[in-house]
Amino acid sequence: MSDIALSPEQQAVFDAIETTRENIFVTGRAGTGKSTLLNHLSWNTSKQIVICAPTGVAALNVGGQTIHSLFRLPIGVIADHEIEQSNELRKLLGTIETVVIDEVSMVNADLLDAVDRSLRQARARPREPFGGVQIVLFGDPYQLAPVPGDGDERAYFEDQYRSMWFFDAKVWSQTDLLIYELSTIHRQHEDEFKWMLNAVRHGRVTAEIAARLNEMGARPAPTDGTITLATTNATVTRINATQLARLPGRVRTARADLSGEFGGRSYPADEALELKVGAQVMFLRNDSDQRWVNGSIGTVTKIDSTVWVEVDGEQHEVQPAVWEKYRYSYSPLTKSLKKDIVAEFTQFPLRLAWAVTIHKSQGKTYDSAIVDLGTRSFAPGQTYVALSRISRLDGLYLSRPLRPSDIIVDENVLRFMSRAAPIPAIEA
Ligand SMILES: Nc1ncnc2c1ncn2[C@@H]1O[C@H](COP(=O)(O)OP(=O)(O)OP(=O)(O)O)[C@@H](O)[C@H]1O
Ligand SMILES: [Mg+2]
Repeated sequence: MSDIALSPEQQAVFDAIETTRENIFVTGRAGTGKSTLLNHLSWNTSKQIVICAPTGVAALNVGGQTIHSLFRLPIGVIADHEIEQSNELRKLLGTIETVVIDEVSMVNADLLDAVDRSLRQARARPREPFGGVQIVLFGDPYQLAPVPGDGDERAYFEDQYRSMWFFDAKVWSQTDLLIYELSTIHRQHEDEFKWMLNAVRHGRVTAEIAARLNEMGARPAPTDGTITLATTNATVTRINATQLARLPGRVRTARADLSGEFGGRSYPADEALELKVGAQVMFLRNDSDQRWVNGSIGTVTKIDSTVWVEVDGEQHEVQPAVWEKYRYSYSPLTKSLKKDIVAEFTQFPLRLAWAVTIHKSQGKTYDSAIVDLGTRSFAPGQTYVALSRISRLDGLYLSRPLRPSDIIVDENVLRFMSRAAPIPAIEA
Protein backbone atom coordinates (compact mmCIF):
# COMPACT_ATOMS: atom_id res chain seq x y z
CA MET A 1 0.00 0.00 0.00
CA SER A 2 2.62 2.54 0.96
CA ASP A 3 5.59 1.91 -1.27
CA ILE A 4 7.08 5.44 -1.20
CA ALA A 5 10.60 5.32 0.25
CA LEU A 6 10.73 7.40 3.41
CA SER A 7 12.98 10.46 3.40
CA PRO A 8 15.72 10.55 6.07
CA GLU A 9 13.68 12.89 8.28
CA GLN A 10 10.57 10.70 7.97
CA GLN A 11 12.71 7.66 8.80
CA ALA A 12 14.13 9.44 11.86
CA VAL A 13 10.62 10.10 13.19
CA PHE A 14 9.59 6.52 12.45
CA ASP A 15 12.60 5.30 14.46
CA ALA A 16 11.76 7.62 17.36
CA ILE A 17 8.23 6.21 17.51
CA GLU A 18 9.44 2.60 17.21
CA THR A 19 12.35 2.71 19.64
CA THR A 20 11.07 4.97 22.44
CA ARG A 21 7.97 5.23 24.60
CA GLU A 22 7.83 9.03 24.46
CA ASN A 23 4.62 10.85 23.59
CA ILE A 24 5.21 12.36 20.18
CA PHE A 25 3.53 15.02 18.06
CA VAL A 26 4.47 14.77 14.39
CA THR A 27 3.76 18.08 12.69
CA GLY A 28 4.92 20.05 9.67
CA ARG A 29 3.60 22.20 6.87
CA ALA A 30 1.10 20.86 4.35
CA GLY A 31 2.67 18.27 2.07
CA THR A 32 5.61 17.34 4.28
CA GLY A 33 4.54 13.68 4.28
CA LYS A 34 2.83 13.25 7.66
CA SER A 35 0.08 10.98 6.32
CA THR A 36 2.60 9.06 4.22
CA LEU A 37 4.63 8.38 7.36
CA LEU A 38 1.51 7.37 9.32
CA ASN A 39 0.62 4.87 6.60
CA HIS A 40 4.13 3.45 6.65
CA LEU A 41 3.94 3.13 10.44
CA SER A 42 0.66 1.26 10.32
CA TRP A 43 2.15 -1.35 7.96
CA ASN A 44 5.62 -1.64 9.46
CA THR A 45 5.45 -1.17 13.21
CA SER A 46 6.24 -4.05 15.55
CA LYS A 47 4.24 -2.47 18.39
CA GLN A 48 0.68 -3.22 19.46
CA ILE A 49 -0.71 -0.09 17.89
CA VAL A 50 -4.21 1.29 17.40
CA ILE A 51 -4.98 4.03 14.91
CA CYS A 52 -7.84 6.44 15.32
CA ALA A 53 -9.01 9.83 14.10
CA PRO A 54 -11.59 12.45 15.12
CA THR A 55 -13.95 11.93 12.15
CA GLY A 56 -15.28 8.91 10.30
CA VAL A 57 -13.83 9.98 6.96
CA ALA A 58 -10.39 10.64 8.46
CA ALA A 59 -10.48 7.25 10.23
CA LEU A 60 -11.38 5.44 7.00
CA ASN A 61 -8.48 7.18 5.27
CA VAL A 62 -5.97 5.60 7.62
CA GLY A 63 -7.73 2.28 8.20
CA GLY A 64 -8.56 3.10 11.81
CA GLN A 65 -11.57 3.74 14.03
CA THR A 66 -13.01 7.01 15.28
CA ILE A 67 -11.78 8.02 18.75
CA HIS A 68 -15.36 7.86 20.04
CA SER A 69 -15.99 4.32 18.88
CA LEU A 70 -12.56 2.96 19.91
CA PHE A 71 -12.90 4.28 23.47
CA ARG A 72 -16.73 3.92 23.45
CA LEU A 73 -17.11 7.55 24.50
CA PRO A 74 -20.36 9.54 24.51
CA ILE A 75 -20.86 12.38 22.02
CA GLY A 76 -20.46 15.96 23.30
CA VAL A 77 -18.48 17.27 26.25
CA ILE A 78 -17.42 14.39 28.50
CA ALA A 79 -16.02 16.49 31.39
CA ASP A 80 -15.70 14.41 34.57
CA HIS A 81 -18.62 12.10 33.80
CA GLU A 82 -18.03 8.49 34.66
CA ILE A 83 -16.72 6.45 31.74
CA GLU A 84 -18.40 3.07 31.41
CA GLN A 85 -16.16 0.23 30.36
CA SER A 86 -17.01 -3.37 29.64
CA ASN A 87 -14.64 -6.18 30.49
CA GLU A 88 -13.82 -6.57 26.85
CA LEU A 89 -12.95 -2.88 26.45
CA ARG A 90 -10.69 -3.01 29.52
CA LYS A 91 -8.81 -5.97 28.08
CA LEU A 92 -8.49 -4.28 24.71
CA LEU A 93 -7.13 -1.05 26.18
CA GLY A 94 -4.91 -3.08 28.49
CA THR A 95 -3.08 -4.62 25.51
CA ILE A 96 -2.23 -1.41 23.66
CA GLU A 97 1.33 -0.08 23.59
CA THR A 98 0.72 2.91 21.35
CA VAL A 99 -2.31 5.02 20.39
CA VAL A 100 -1.91 6.91 17.11
CA ILE A 101 -4.27 9.80 16.36
CA ASP A 102 -4.39 11.36 12.87
CA GLU A 103 -5.76 14.84 12.08
CA VAL A 104 -5.24 15.75 15.73
CA SER A 105 -5.80 19.46 15.03
CA MET A 106 -9.54 18.65 15.01
CA VAL A 107 -9.44 16.86 18.40
CA ASN A 108 -10.57 19.04 21.31
CA ALA A 109 -8.93 19.17 24.74
CA ASP A 110 -11.88 17.58 26.55
CA LEU A 111 -11.78 14.55 24.25
CA LEU A 112 -8.04 14.06 24.72
CA ASP A 113 -8.48 14.27 28.52
CA ALA A 114 -11.22 11.64 28.24
CA VAL A 115 -8.83 9.37 26.32
CA ASP A 116 -6.31 9.86 29.13
CA ARG A 117 -8.87 9.01 31.81
CA SER A 118 -10.21 6.05 29.88
CA LEU A 119 -6.74 4.52 29.54
CA ARG A 120 -5.88 5.05 33.24
CA GLN A 121 -9.15 3.47 34.28
CA ALA A 122 -8.99 0.47 31.92
CA ARG A 123 -5.38 -0.31 32.77
CA ALA A 124 -5.90 0.27 36.52
CA ARG A 125 -3.02 2.74 36.56
CA PRO A 126 -4.83 5.80 37.90
CA ARG A 127 -1.71 7.87 38.50
CA GLU A 128 0.01 7.38 35.13
CA PRO A 129 -0.78 9.73 32.25
CA PHE A 130 -2.58 7.77 29.52
CA GLY A 131 -2.27 4.73 31.78
CA GLY A 132 1.31 4.27 30.59
CA VAL A 133 0.44 4.10 26.89
CA GLN A 134 2.56 5.94 24.30
CA ILE A 135 0.57 8.61 22.43
CA VAL A 136 1.56 9.58 18.87
CA LEU A 137 -0.29 12.51 17.31
CA PHE A 138 -0.15 13.58 13.65
CA GLY A 139 -1.39 16.90 12.25
CA ASP A 140 -0.78 20.55 11.46
CA PRO A 141 -2.43 23.08 13.82
CA TYR A 142 -2.28 25.71 11.05
CA GLN A 143 -4.84 23.62 9.14
CA LEU A 144 -8.31 22.52 10.41
CA ALA A 145 -9.31 23.51 13.98
CA PRO A 146 -11.68 21.71 16.39
CA VAL A 147 -15.30 22.46 15.49
CA PRO A 148 -16.92 24.60 18.20
CA GLY A 149 -20.13 23.09 19.61
CA ASP A 150 -23.27 24.78 20.93
CA GLY A 151 -23.38 27.61 23.49
CA ASP A 152 -23.14 25.37 26.56
CA GLU A 153 -20.19 23.53 25.13
CA ARG A 154 -18.40 26.79 24.42
CA ALA A 155 -19.11 27.99 27.94
CA TYR A 156 -17.63 24.79 29.35
CA PHE A 157 -14.41 25.28 27.42
CA GLU A 158 -14.24 28.96 28.45
CA ASP A 159 -14.50 27.89 32.09
CA GLN A 160 -12.22 24.89 32.07
CA TYR A 161 -9.61 25.29 29.38
CA ARG A 162 -7.28 27.89 27.99
CA SER A 163 -8.55 26.93 24.53
CA MET A 164 -10.33 24.06 22.77
CA TRP A 165 -7.09 22.84 21.20
CA PHE A 166 -5.65 19.40 22.02
CA PHE A 167 -2.44 21.01 23.25
CA ASP A 168 -4.36 22.74 26.05
CA ALA A 169 -5.66 19.43 27.49
CA LYS A 170 -5.01 19.07 31.22
CA VAL A 171 -3.02 15.86 30.81
CA TRP A 172 -0.07 17.84 29.41
CA SER A 173 0.61 19.32 32.85
CA GLN A 174 1.53 15.79 33.92
CA THR A 175 3.48 14.45 30.98
CA ASP A 176 5.64 15.68 28.12
CA LEU A 177 4.94 15.87 24.42
CA LEU A 178 7.97 15.75 22.14
CA ILE A 179 7.46 17.62 18.91
CA TYR A 180 8.97 16.46 15.64
CA GLU A 181 8.57 18.81 12.73
CA LEU A 182 8.99 17.48 9.21
CA SER A 183 10.56 20.21 7.11
CA THR A 184 10.79 19.03 3.50
CA ILE A 185 7.72 19.74 1.41
CA HIS A 186 7.07 16.96 -1.11
CA ARG A 187 3.85 18.28 -2.63
CA GLN A 188 5.22 21.51 -4.15
CA HIS A 189 8.59 21.96 -5.82
CA GLU A 190 8.74 25.69 -6.67
CA ASP A 191 10.56 27.76 -4.03
CA GLU A 192 8.49 30.87 -4.75
CA PHE A 193 5.16 29.05 -4.26
CA LYS A 194 6.38 27.26 -1.11
CA TRP A 195 7.46 30.60 0.31
CA MET A 196 4.09 32.22 -0.46
CA LEU A 197 2.18 29.30 1.05
CA ASN A 198 4.26 29.64 4.17
CA ALA A 199 3.30 33.33 4.41
CA VAL A 200 -0.38 32.36 4.14
CA ARG A 201 0.10 29.67 6.81
CA HIS A 202 1.52 32.20 9.26
CA GLY A 203 -0.76 35.12 8.36
CA ARG A 204 2.20 37.12 7.05
CA VAL A 205 0.99 37.89 3.56
CA THR A 206 2.55 41.12 2.32
CA ALA A 207 0.96 43.30 -0.38
CA GLU A 208 3.52 41.92 -2.85
CA ILE A 209 2.67 38.30 -2.05
CA ALA A 210 -1.07 39.01 -2.32
CA ALA A 211 -0.52 40.76 -5.64
CA ARG A 212 1.47 37.83 -7.03
CA LEU A 213 -1.11 35.24 -5.88
CA ASN A 214 -3.96 37.36 -7.24
CA GLU A 215 -2.13 37.88 -10.54
CA MET A 216 -1.86 34.10 -11.01
CA GLY A 217 -5.34 33.55 -9.59
CA ALA A 218 -7.03 36.10 -11.86
CA ARG A 219 -6.30 34.27 -15.12
CA PRO A 220 -9.56 33.05 -16.67
CA ALA A 221 -10.41 29.71 -15.08
CA PRO A 222 -10.09 26.84 -17.55
CA THR A 223 -13.36 25.29 -18.71
CA ASP A 224 -11.88 21.80 -18.90
CA GLY A 225 -13.54 20.90 -15.61
CA THR A 226 -10.74 22.00 -13.28
CA ILE A 227 -11.87 21.27 -9.72
CA THR A 228 -13.34 24.04 -7.52
CA LEU A 229 -12.50 24.08 -3.80
CA ALA A 230 -15.30 25.92 -1.98
CA THR A 231 -15.98 26.94 1.61
CA THR A 232 -19.55 25.61 1.90
CA ASN A 233 -21.45 22.41 1.03
CA ALA A 234 -24.19 24.52 -0.53
CA THR A 235 -21.76 25.94 -3.12
CA VAL A 236 -20.32 22.50 -3.87
CA THR A 237 -23.73 20.88 -4.38
CA ARG A 238 -24.83 23.77 -6.56
CA ILE A 239 -21.76 23.62 -8.81
CA ASN A 240 -21.93 19.81 -9.19
CA ALA A 241 -25.68 19.78 -9.85
CA THR A 242 -25.43 22.61 -12.39
CA GLN A 243 -22.64 20.88 -14.24
CA LEU A 244 -24.40 17.48 -14.22
CA ALA A 245 -27.63 19.04 -15.53
CA ARG A 246 -25.72 20.81 -18.30
CA LEU A 247 -24.63 17.46 -19.74
CA PRO A 248 -26.88 15.75 -22.31
CA GLY A 249 -28.12 12.21 -21.69
CA ARG A 250 -29.90 10.62 -18.78
CA VAL A 251 -28.87 10.29 -15.16
CA ARG A 252 -27.98 6.80 -13.93
CA THR A 253 -28.02 6.15 -10.19
CA ALA A 254 -25.78 3.60 -8.47
CA ARG A 255 -27.01 2.60 -5.02
CA ALA A 256 -24.53 1.56 -2.34
CA ASP A 257 -24.67 -1.87 -0.70
CA LEU A 258 -24.52 -1.79 3.06
CA SER A 259 -23.93 -4.55 5.54
CA GLY A 260 -23.40 -4.27 9.27
CA GLU A 261 -23.66 -1.11 11.33
CA PHE A 262 -21.92 1.69 9.49
CA GLY A 263 -23.13 4.52 11.71
CA GLY A 264 -25.10 7.26 9.96
CA ARG A 265 -23.05 10.20 8.80
CA SER A 266 -19.74 8.57 8.05
CA TYR A 267 -20.42 7.03 4.63
CA PRO A 268 -17.23 7.10 2.60
CA ALA A 269 -19.10 7.71 -0.70
CA ASP A 270 -22.60 8.72 -1.89
CA GLU A 271 -25.33 6.26 -0.98
CA ALA A 272 -27.05 7.18 -4.25
CA LEU A 273 -24.38 8.13 -6.75
CA GLU A 274 -25.80 10.05 -9.74
CA LEU A 275 -23.74 9.89 -12.91
CA LYS A 276 -23.98 10.71 -16.60
CA VAL A 277 -21.66 9.99 -19.45
CA GLY A 278 -19.34 13.01 -19.52
CA ALA A 279 -19.50 13.62 -15.76
CA GLN A 280 -16.31 14.73 -14.04
CA VAL A 281 -15.51 12.42 -11.16
CA MET A 282 -12.87 12.00 -8.52
CA PHE A 283 -11.59 8.64 -7.33
CA LEU A 284 -12.02 8.04 -3.62
CA ARG A 285 -9.59 5.12 -3.36
CA ASN A 286 -6.16 4.07 -4.56
CA ASP A 287 -6.24 1.38 -7.26
CA SER A 288 -4.31 -1.78 -6.43
CA ASP A 289 -3.01 -1.78 -10.02
CA GLN A 290 -2.05 1.89 -9.67
CA ARG A 291 -4.17 3.03 -12.61
CA TRP A 292 -5.46 5.86 -10.40
CA VAL A 293 -5.03 7.13 -6.84
CA ASN A 294 -7.31 8.63 -4.23
CA GLY A 295 -7.91 12.14 -5.63
CA SER A 296 -7.36 11.34 -9.35
CA ILE A 297 -9.81 13.17 -11.60
CA GLY A 298 -11.40 11.55 -14.64
CA THR A 299 -14.42 11.61 -16.96
CA VAL A 300 -17.18 9.01 -17.17
CA THR A 301 -17.24 7.54 -20.70
CA LYS A 302 -19.66 4.62 -20.38
CA ILE A 303 -22.16 3.32 -17.81
CA ASP A 304 -23.61 -0.19 -17.76
CA SER A 305 -23.17 -2.69 -14.94
CA THR A 306 -19.81 -1.03 -14.30
CA VAL A 307 -18.57 2.50 -14.92
CA TRP A 308 -15.87 3.39 -17.43
CA VAL A 309 -13.70 6.37 -16.59
CA GLU A 310 -11.04 8.06 -18.69
CA VAL A 311 -8.00 9.24 -16.74
CA ASP A 312 -5.14 10.99 -18.55
CA GLY A 313 -6.32 9.72 -21.95
CA GLU A 314 -6.76 6.11 -20.85
CA GLN A 315 -10.06 4.31 -20.29
CA HIS A 316 -10.47 2.15 -17.23
CA GLU A 317 -13.30 -0.10 -16.16
CA VAL A 318 -14.11 0.76 -12.55
CA GLN A 319 -15.56 -1.91 -10.29
CA PRO A 320 -17.38 -1.16 -7.05
CA ALA A 321 -15.05 -0.93 -4.06
CA VAL A 322 -15.65 -2.20 -0.55
CA TRP A 323 -14.96 0.04 2.43
CA GLU A 324 -14.45 -1.88 5.61
CA LYS A 325 -15.20 -0.39 8.95
CA TYR A 326 -12.93 -1.80 11.60
CA ARG A 327 -13.23 -2.33 15.28
CA TYR A 328 -10.39 -3.40 17.52
CA SER A 329 -11.00 -6.28 19.89
CA TYR A 330 -8.95 -8.30 22.31
CA SER A 331 -8.33 -11.97 21.69
CA PRO A 332 -7.81 -13.91 24.95
CA LEU A 333 -6.55 -16.83 22.88
CA THR A 334 -3.55 -15.06 21.37
CA LYS A 335 -3.40 -12.36 24.05
CA SER A 336 -3.21 -9.74 21.35
CA LEU A 337 -5.23 -7.14 19.51
CA LYS A 338 -7.37 -8.09 16.57
CA LYS A 339 -8.78 -5.82 13.94
CA ASP A 340 -12.25 -7.07 12.96
CA ILE A 341 -14.44 -5.92 10.10
CA VAL A 342 -17.79 -4.83 11.56
CA ALA A 343 -19.41 -3.27 8.52
CA GLU A 344 -19.00 -3.00 4.78
CA PHE A 345 -20.03 -0.31 2.33
CA THR A 346 -19.90 -1.15 -1.37
CA GLN A 347 -20.09 1.55 -4.03
CA PHE A 348 -18.17 2.77 -7.06
CA PRO A 349 -15.19 4.67 -5.58
CA LEU A 350 -16.29 7.84 -7.36
CA ARG A 351 -17.91 11.16 -6.58
CA LEU A 352 -18.93 14.10 -8.77
CA ALA A 353 -15.94 16.37 -8.74
CA TRP A 354 -16.44 19.66 -10.45
CA ALA A 355 -16.36 20.96 -6.85
CA VAL A 356 -15.54 19.75 -3.30
CA THR A 357 -15.48 21.51 0.07
CA ILE A 358 -12.13 22.71 1.37
CA HIS A 359 -12.87 20.58 4.42
CA LYS A 360 -13.11 17.43 2.25
CA SER A 361 -10.04 18.41 0.26
CA GLN A 362 -7.95 18.17 3.43
CA GLY A 363 -5.03 15.82 2.87
CA LYS A 364 -5.39 15.85 -0.95
CA THR A 365 -3.06 16.93 -3.78
CA TYR A 366 -4.24 18.59 -7.05
CA ASP A 367 -2.29 19.78 -10.10
CA SER A 368 -4.69 22.71 -10.49
CA ALA A 369 -7.80 24.05 -8.78
CA ILE A 370 -10.16 27.03 -8.64
CA VAL A 371 -10.37 28.33 -5.09
CA ASP A 372 -13.81 29.79 -4.29
CA LEU A 373 -13.78 31.56 -0.93
CA GLY A 374 -17.36 32.78 -1.48
CA THR A 375 -18.49 35.75 0.59
CA ARG A 376 -15.78 35.05 3.13
CA SER A 377 -13.37 32.48 4.44
CA PHE A 378 -14.71 31.77 7.93
CA ALA A 379 -12.41 29.32 9.69
CA PRO A 380 -8.78 29.50 10.78
CA GLY A 381 -6.51 27.76 8.29
CA GLN A 382 -9.20 27.43 5.60
CA THR A 383 -7.43 29.51 2.97
CA TYR A 384 -4.12 27.81 3.74
CA VAL A 385 -5.63 24.34 3.35
CA ALA A 386 -7.19 25.33 0.00
CA LEU A 387 -4.10 26.93 -1.54
CA SER A 388 -1.71 24.26 -0.27
CA ARG A 389 -3.60 21.44 -2.07
CA ILE A 390 -2.26 22.75 -5.40
CA SER A 391 1.10 21.42 -6.50
CA ARG A 392 2.12 24.22 -8.92
CA LEU A 393 1.62 28.00 -8.84
CA ASP A 394 0.35 28.05 -12.45
CA GLY A 395 -2.38 25.64 -11.35
CA LEU A 396 -3.92 28.29 -9.07
CA TYR A 397 -7.18 30.03 -10.05
CA LEU A 398 -9.27 32.25 -7.76
CA SER A 399 -12.99 32.98 -8.14
CA ARG A 400 -12.26 36.39 -6.61
CA PRO A 401 -9.11 38.12 -5.33
CA LEU A 402 -7.82 37.24 -1.88
CA ARG A 403 -8.56 39.73 0.87
CA PRO A 404 -6.59 40.16 4.08
CA SER A 405 -9.68 38.94 6.03
CA ASP A 406 -9.47 35.55 4.25
CA ILE A 407 -6.34 34.70 6.15
CA ILE A 408 -7.18 33.72 9.71
CA VAL A 409 -4.57 32.32 12.07
CA ASP A 410 -5.75 31.17 15.49
CA GLU A 411 -3.76 32.98 18.19
CA ASN A 412 -3.68 29.85 20.34
CA VAL A 413 -1.80 28.09 17.55
CA LEU A 414 0.74 30.92 17.40
CA ARG A 415 1.19 30.68 21.16
CA PHE A 416 1.66 26.90 21.19
CA MET A 417 3.84 26.62 18.10
CA SER A 418 6.15 29.46 19.14
CA ARG A 419 6.65 28.13 22.65
CA ALA A 420 6.90 24.52 21.56
CA ALA A 421 10.38 24.91 20.03
CA PRO A 422 9.96 22.04 17.60
CA ILE A 423 12.86 19.67 17.35
CA PRO A 424 14.02 19.41 13.77
CA ALA A 425 13.47 15.79 12.79
CA ILE A 426 17.14 15.43 11.85
CA GLU A 427 20.17 17.61 12.24
CA ALA A 428 20.86 19.63 9.12
N1 LIG B 1 9.34 10.52 1.08
C1 LIG B 1 8.60 10.94 0.07
N2 LIG B 1 9.07 10.87 -1.20
C2 LIG B 1 8.33 11.30 -2.26
N3 LIG B 1 7.08 11.80 -2.16
C3 LIG B 1 6.54 11.89 -0.92
C4 LIG B 1 7.27 11.47 0.25
N4 LIG B 1 6.48 11.71 1.32
C5 LIG B 1 5.32 12.21 0.85
N5 LIG B 1 5.35 12.34 -0.49
C6 LIG B 1 4.29 12.85 -1.38
O1 LIG B 1 4.00 14.20 -1.04
C7 LIG B 1 2.60 14.47 -1.10
C8 LIG B 1 2.13 14.97 0.27
O2 LIG B 1 2.31 13.93 1.25
P1 LIG B 1 1.29 13.74 2.48
O3 LIG B 1 -0.09 13.78 1.97
O4 LIG B 1 1.74 12.55 3.27
O5 LIG B 1 1.62 15.08 3.29
P2 LIG B 1 0.91 15.64 4.60
O6 LIG B 1 2.00 16.19 5.45
O7 LIG B 1 0.04 14.60 5.20
O8 LIG B 1 0.08 16.84 3.98
P3 LIG B 1 -1.26 17.54 4.56
O9 LIG B 1 -0.82 18.34 5.75
O10 LIG B 1 -1.69 18.41 3.43
O11 LIG B 1 -2.22 16.44 4.91
C9 LIG B 1 1.94 13.15 -1.50
O12 LIG B 1 1.69 13.22 -2.89
C10 LIG B 1 2.98 12.11 -1.16
O13 LIG B 1 2.88 10.98 -2.01
MG1 LIG C 1 -2.05 14.51 5.58
